[in-house]
Amino acid sequence: MISHYELYMSIIQSKATSMYGRGTIDRVKTGIDGLDNIIKGGVPKNSITLISGQPGSGKTILCYLYLYKGIQEGEKCLFLTMDKKIDGVLSQARNLGFDFQPAIEKGQAKFLFLNINKKLIYETMTNEILSGEYDRVVLDSITPLSEMPIYVKNANISSSDINIVNPDDFSSEANFPIRRLHLHYIMNTLETSQCTSLVTSELPVGSSSLSRDGISEFLADGVITLSLDPTMDRRKLSVMKMRNTKHTLKPQDIEIGEGGIKFS
Ligand SMILES: Nc1ncnc2c1ncn2[C@@H]1O[C@H](COP(=O)(O)OP(=O)(O)O)[C@@H](O)[C@H]1O
Ligand SMILES: [Mg+2]
Repeated sequence: MISHYELYMSIIQSKATSMYGRGTIDRVKTGIDGLDNIIKGGVPKNSITLISGQPGSGKTILCYLYLYKGIQEGEKCLFLTMDKKIDGVLSQARNLGFDFQPAIEKGQAKFLFLNINKKLIYETMTNEILSGEYDRVVLDSITPLSEMPIYVKNANISSSDINIVNPDDFSSEANFPIRRLHLHYIMNTLETSQCTSLVTSELPVGSSSLSRDGISEFLADGVITLSLDPTMDRRKLSVMKMRNTKHTLKPQDIEIGEGGIKFS
């Protein structure tokens, strides 16, 4: 088991390599032409993009489109879901025109249920991501994981240990910022695996935040928000952040229907 400090350092190192180590940027098509057009061809290869929005805003459907595009491109795809009814997930996708069954049978796609009540959830997830050699990974959603309580073994913390420290001074495992541990762990796994991933975050209705936890948007390389306007019966998609990409911030009109999400 890798220590928290090693994990933290490898995040910093992999970020540095991915930000400064390359010349031209390879892009991965999202499966939504309108979206690819406004982000210069797709999300950067090996990046993590957060998809945030309230329930029903289309996050899961966007993820289906993304993986389906990967299947069409001959890539290996993983869908991690907190929904234990995998059959339901697959039939919802099929109703929208995405039949993943042939790819699953060929071993090109995998839909894996992550049980939040199981102690080994992180190990299950990490092993699958790191051993599967996936090109595309979807985590739908990160919210239950980020809200799980953390138990620290053998900790003897007194009030004098609680300090505001300069990150440059933090040099031992004992100083790891615990609140962010889950999220660092997940993001680090995705980064070290060389896949290009989408991670969804559930926003409460009416929220103007970029994620439920208030941290994922800083750890992710990109942030796309999906919103609903019930009065006007309209849906919008906005690119709020995309590493190495000049893009508009303007909310784009979208429609959901057969074939998933389309720009209108
Ligand atoms: N076949 C369809 N045609 C039109 N709209 C659909 C269809 N299937 C789902 N939707 C719309 O998409 C919404 C669900 O999108 P979903 O991606 O599951 O949202 P989220 O994951 O953000 O909660 C539904 O509430 C419905 O409004
Ligand atoms: Mg969903």
